[in-house]
Amino acid sequence: PRCIWLSRHGESIYNVEQKIGGDSILSERGLAYARKLKDMIEENAPGETLTVWTSTLKRTQETAQFLSFKKLQWKALDELDAGVCDGMTYEEIEAKYPEDFKARDADKYEYRYRGGESYRDVVIRLEPVIMELERQENILIITHQAVLRCIYAYFMNVPQEESPWMAIPLHTLMKLEPKAYGTKVTALKANI
Ligand code: F6P
Repeated sequence: PRCIWLSRHGESIYNVEQKIGGDSILSERGLAYARKLKDMIEENAPGETLTVWTSTLKRTQETAQFLSFKKLQWKALDELDAGVCDGMTYEEIEAKYPEDFKARDADKYEYRYRGGESYRDVVIRLEPVIMELERQENILIITHQAVLRCIYAYFMNVPQEESPWMAIPLHTLMKLEPKAYGTKVTALKANI
């Protein structure tokens, strides 16, 4: 592909409440990012036709809502499933499942939430997405923190142990350009 654009969804109500997972809608700030995203794409990819890939969750679709490109939803782009911890804050998880909390910290890539997923599980379910991505032209992917870490790590050759710890800030559009020597990354901050 010529160019891959990546973004987390705009800030969601759960992000504000510091709860993980769920299917909440965007906050006012998150909506402002969705509007800004349209301008940022117009400015940085003028005249280009992109296809927008989102997850099946509301916050990614709301983030894509002002873009007038063709859109496709992938279940495989849904956020890492936190199982029994879905909807909890990290403090609540630490209090209720202290052993799990420690185990995740010790090996975040392999740790699988009870009734949920590990980063390794996400990498495996992303395989068809990555394969399709390699065949496509310009794609904008709007997805979630853990999923973006996996996609970014794949293109940037980030080691498995490190990828779950990478900072992928909200309200930042990333442009990945595959080059002969590797992948060039440009991070565009929305300042919202
Ligand atoms: O807090 C936002 C979020 O996307 C959660 O929904 C998800 O569980 C978490 O980030 C993933 O990040 P980490 O693996 O660092 O907990």
